[in-house]
Amino acid sequence: MTTAAFRDAVARSRALVIIATTGAMAACTGFQSALDPKGPKAEAVSHLNWFLVITAAVVYVAVIGALFFALRRASARPVAFARDDVEEPDRERARVRWVAGAAAVSALILLLFLFVDVSTARSLSQVGGVRPLRIDVVGHQWWWEVTYPDIGNPQNTVSTANEIHVPIGRPVLIKMTSDDVIHSFWAPNLDGKKDLIPGHETITWFRADTAGVYRGQCAEFCGHQHAKMAFFIVAEPRVNFEHWLTAQKSPATTPADSLGQAGEKVFMTGTCAMCHSIEGTSAGSKYGPDLTHLASRRTIAAGTLPNNTGNLAGWILDPQSIKPGAKMPPNQIDPQSLRALLAYLGTLR
Ligand code: CUA
Repeated sequence: MTTAAFRDAVARSRALVIIATTGAMAACTGFQSALDPKGPKAEAVSHLNWFLVITAAVVYVAVIGALFFALRRASARPVAFARDDVEEPDRERARVRWVAGAAAVSALILLLFLFVDVSTARSLSQVGGVRPLRIDVVGHQWWWEVTYPDIGNPQNTVSTANEIHVPIGRPVLIKMTSDDVIHSFWAPNLDGKKDLIPGHETITWFRADTAGVYRGQCAEFCGHQHAKMAFFIVAEPRVNFEHWLTAQKSPATTPADSLGQAGEKVFMTGTCAMCHSIEGTSAGSKYGPDLTHLASRRTIAAGTLPNNTGNLAGWILDPQSIKPGAKMPPNQIDPQSLRALLAYLGTLR
């Protein structure tokens, strides 16, 4: 096999692994795969991964090949008699040389692994190029609080949940902490894992080079609903991102129609306002996710369900059957009020 043909075969088998894995992932969880990097950090990790896997595969094939070679030679040799099975000194020396050589090669490969690993980690720790966009993330059982601080104009700070919009091509610096237990921020297509620790700030960064919606997942067991603590990173061209950010800065307005107005009243006078905030209204509790632009989000309950009226109704009435242990209590709302509330929440774009 020529070198070009070998490279071609490696590339083809890599593509097959990627297709099989991302296909299976996309079918059940949306787009999330460490084998399909979409930014420089995930790419560096992916290169490291392929380097380790391919080197280990070559070593494995060499070891198994040597084993079969030795077995064949042993079975080809005539049965040794009691006096003859003492090795000749030449053969013994050759064997010692082979074993010492193999041990030296193994040690060299391990040292090479260590060097490549450390240098990859070093290159990942530096945010390259342009001034990064800062986003604050707080982990909660079991959702992600996301803030875009505006240091000069604090009233322009944007608060959202479980969905992080970023412009493509610009590094994003994420400052993280946790409100309760240790969580871990992991968007495999863009970045490695980073823990969120109560009372301590950790930092990570990434850059998305390709537009797309990338699923992320809490990667540290954090209690009953750890598996339902997902988020989405929406990477889009700068213009679209600026448009989104401007829209998110605007407060909610009272709906024009009577059904929506009735729904607003249900929200403000019922239990909703005790935990959630909606900018521009009297609801200002920070206990649960900010709902000012709830209707603009793709999912509810941290990636648990697609955000549509039916799912929202089910979630409001009986969140415990969807996400047992979540902090949101069940709500007894009469059908008319629920219809109004849903209409109001639908206006929060
Ligand atoms: Cu948060 Cu696991």
